[in-house]
Amino acid sequence: MKLIHLTDTHLTLPGQPLYGTYPAERLRACVESINNEHADADLCVITGDLAHCGDIEAYEELASILAGLKVPVQLVIGNHDHRERLVERFPQLARDEAGFVQSALKTEAGTFIFMDSVKDGTHAGAYCETRRTWLAQQLEKAGDDVFLFMHHAPFKTGIKPMDKIGMDAQDALALKALLQRYGRIKHLFFGHYHRPMHGSWSGIGFSTLRGMNHQVALDLKREDNYLFTHEPPAYAVVLIDDDNVVVHNHDFMDPSQVFDPNMEPEWD
Ligand SMILES: [Fe+2]
Repeated sequence: MKLIHLTDTHLTLPGQPLYGTYPAERLRACVESINNEHADADLCVITGDLAHCGDIEAYEELASILAGLKVPVQLVIGNHDHRERLVERFPQLARDEAGFVQSALKTEAGTFIFMDSVKDGTHAGAYCETRRTWLAQQLEKAGDDVFLFMHHAPFKTGIKPMDKIGMDAQDALALKALLQRYGRIKHLFFGHYHRPMHGSWSGIGFSTLRGMNHQVALDLKREDNYLFTHEPPAYAVVLIDDDNVVVHNHDFMDPSQVFDPNMEPEWD
């Protein structure tokens, strides 16, 4: 199975820049790249912060741009999103009984679970008991390999100002216990940190990547406010088979030339 993961599109009101760049232009370039190079992907998941201020006009533009994507798309909610306006514009986005934007999807690779880690009124994350009860039911139904998608990571990343707006520590512990009991979590995909990070959390492989518009600087010393950079955006091409989850990051706006080293003897 081939999956595309991208995150933190941060769409603004149409025509409005954000930190000197244009989120909609970035997303259009990303869609063009996916269509040209990876139109055979089975699914594209965007792990939250779809709109910077949760405006309905931004969601309209998101819908309009994504209408041109040749790959089916699944949205996940992030802390910059507005739950009601997001669902108003994307009514196909399923909600659980409590209203959280959460759903599960059976795929050839296993069960994909799209989680709502938004804590209302703050940029930090939560995964409360109500959501964990829903997740426990989904895991019970799944019975196979499970892939998780959410906005916040349930662990500290070492980027301290971002960790201050990470997931509630008690919720993260309870989530970990629930997932460990299930035991068949193959991978966790998340957004929020606007940086590439890969590793494992309590034995569960994870990955995240740069956002579409702006990035968080790699600074492990700062305690208070994070800094942004304009490192190029990326999307991930994920190849999943029975044994492996392989995550390729694609800097789709990198202007570097592709060349055959055997055809460039003058560079020897
Ligand atoms: Fe973000």
